[in-house]
Amino acid sequence: MTSPRLPIQVAVLGATGAVGQTFVRLLEGHPWFTLAEVAASERSAGRAYRDVTRWIEGEMPAAVGDMQVKSCDPTAVSSPIVFSALDSSVAGEVEAAFDAAGRLVLSNAQNYRMEPDVPLVIPEVNADHLALLDLQRARRGWPGGIVTNANCAATMAAVALAPLHAAFGARRVFVATMQAVSGAGYPGVPSLDILGNVIPYIGDEEPKLEREMQKMLGVVGAAGVTNAPFAVSAHANRVAVENGHTVCLSVEFERDPALEDAARALRDWTGAPVVRGLPSAPDAPLHFFESEDRPQPRRDVMRGRGMTVSVGRLRRDPLFHLKFVAMGHNTIRGAAGGSILNAELLVATGRAGVA
Ligand SMILES: NC(=O)c1ccc[n+]([C@@H]2O[C@H](COP(=O)([O-])OP(=O)(O)OC[C@H]3O[C@@H](n4cnc5c(N)ncnc54)[C@H](OP(=O)(O)O)[C@@H]3O)[C@@H](O)[C@H]2O)c1
Repeated sequence: MTSPRLPIQVAVLGATGAVGQTFVRLLEGHPWFTLAEVAASERSAGRAYRDVTRWIEGEMPAAVGDMQVKSCDPTAVSSPIVFSALDSSVAGEVEAAFDAAGRLVLSNAQNYRMEPDVPLVIPEVNADHLALLDLQRARRGWPGGIVTNANCAATMAAVALAPLHAAFGARRVFVATMQAVSGAGYPGVPSLDILGNVIPYIGDEEPKLEREMQKMLGVVGAAGVTNAPFAVSAHANRVAVENGHTVCLSVEFERDPALEDAARALRDWTGAPVVRGLPSAPDAPLHFFESEDRPQPRRDVMRGRGMTVSVGRLRRDPLFHLKFVAMGHNTIRGAAGGSILNAELLVATGRAGVA
């Protein structure tokens, strides 16, 4: 690993929203990154962060509260590393402008995820896909770069599927999600719509679940990623849970695994070795539960400081081969924490272009 020159100044775009606030919390006291700038829409720009942010969890870091919110414009924001928690309606244009200005953008939005030269990365699953940055910089002439992390529910599913796909080759994947309200951002779903209710529709969510896992579990080469050859069918539901997306999966494999072999694959999986020891890396990216009634968001969502995906209820599936449940923190593992881990890996491996 390369020793980065530290600390590195970073900015958060969309810092006032649910994911933006999670970035602010996770970056407080970060050993490598100093949060130097916060930016949001023109509604918020020019005002103090504490005056325009409806802070959701715990105490707002005092120093950030005093910061003046900037416009999402590379002439206003100077940090070399930029975390984007922008709404997808604006992320495309804004993130491209930062890339073109030579910044490294770590994006949570869907806009660039499926571009052939853009890495879509969960570090423990496909750290090697960061090599696509070279292709991207050459092809687009962008001195910066953009690296994306996946849809939050797809992240939980992909972590659970990664060890099983590597061992037995996934062929058909059926997923049904139960997604937390914080996944809809702030203020998100009206309380009268969600309390005591389940909403069997989340706009644009099922297509992301049906296409992103194949890219993440695909094979990277000089010309891009060859997607993993499995099909996914997804149902996405919003439920009255604060944090933590639960995903139920049924999977058919190329080779029908014995239950004990599948359990061992999940229990033993520790992810790409290059990730271990990074500041945001959890001790275990995947925790395998043997007990019958886990994982549960209330009990398990903060495992590994919100960076561990909990997997359990592994059993035979009468239609496919196996079924199981995955659950993880949507704004930490599924968004801000995943982005920060991507940035740490880029810095540690000398690919960030800034240190
Ligand atoms: N929530 C999750 O669990 C989750 C997980 C993974 C990925 N994501 C993705 O992360 C992104 C942010 O999600 P969120 O849940 O944090 O949404 P959110 O709470 O609605 O926050 C949206 C942010 O975007 C800013 N924004 C809106 N319009 C803008 C504009 N025209 N110019 C500049 N900034 C603008 C807002 O600033 P103002 O306050 O000034 O309006 C706010 O900071 C989305 O792309 C989402 O799909 C979310």
